[in-house]
Amino acid sequence: MNLIVTESYAESCLYAAHQIAALIQQTPTAKLGLATGGTPVPIYRELARLCRAGEVSFAKVRTVNLDEYCGLTGQNDQSYRHFMEKHLFSKIDIDTANTYVACGVGDEQTNCRALDEAVLAGGVPDLQLLGVGTNGHIGFNEASETLTAHAHIEQLSATTIAANARFFAGSDEVPTRAITMGMQNILCARRILLVATGKAKAEAIRGLIQNDDVTTRNPCTFLKLHPFADVVIDRTLAAAAGWPDA
Ligand code: PGA
Repeated sequence: MNLIVTESYAESCLYAAHQIAALIQQTPTAKLGLATGGTPVPIYRELARLCRAGEVSFAKVRTVNLDEYCGLTGQNDQSYRHFMEKHLFSKIDIDTANTYVACGVGDEQTNCRALDEAVLAGGVPDLQLLGVGTNGHIGFNEASETLTAHAHIEQLSATTIAANARFFAGSDEVPTRAITMGMQNILCARRILLVATGKAKAEAIRGLIQNDDVTTRNPCTFLKLHPFADVVIDRTLAAAAGWPDA
């Protein structure tokens, strides 16, 4: 695992966007694993700017997203399909047919197997972008006694529902279940890029950067099993997570 400490969250997002853009410049057919949530929004803004400026083209890029809420169709404006359209896909030259966000309605087993297939279709992702939950979740793999390898339905934890309530009218409105890539689906990417900010993430990041332990109680620690995982955090979060040089 490679730790990158930046001066600010804005700098972290520029760093991540430029890493992704460089990958696409080098491999125009790159396959990206993408994330939703508050953290990646400025990353997608910068990628859209680079695309408008003609510096990068997504015309041949393929994408697969980590997760989707159960019970929401892609037309629902709280769905992650809608989030991706709004923040990225509608702003770049990507072919929507080359984008995959899991289906949150219909037969759950069928949807999970389809997500497993999407992760592998045409080869594993060249890069998986990740945020992290306050409880250390990646995708929606919640901190627990056990984790799950493949795509599955996850019951969202109270902390995740509370954290995501800011995107809804209230916590009652947050879906309680989600379809998510499992740990193997995430870790099979050739490269991982995790971006985190905010003191609420300090405990999760502490477990990631302070020792060599891997624990299902803090799922992001599984990134230690990946040979090419970059963790990008700002100095404020690094200090809150006890990083001595921050
Ligand atoms: P956030 O969510 O970017 O909205 O903090 C990250 C996550 O839950 O993985």
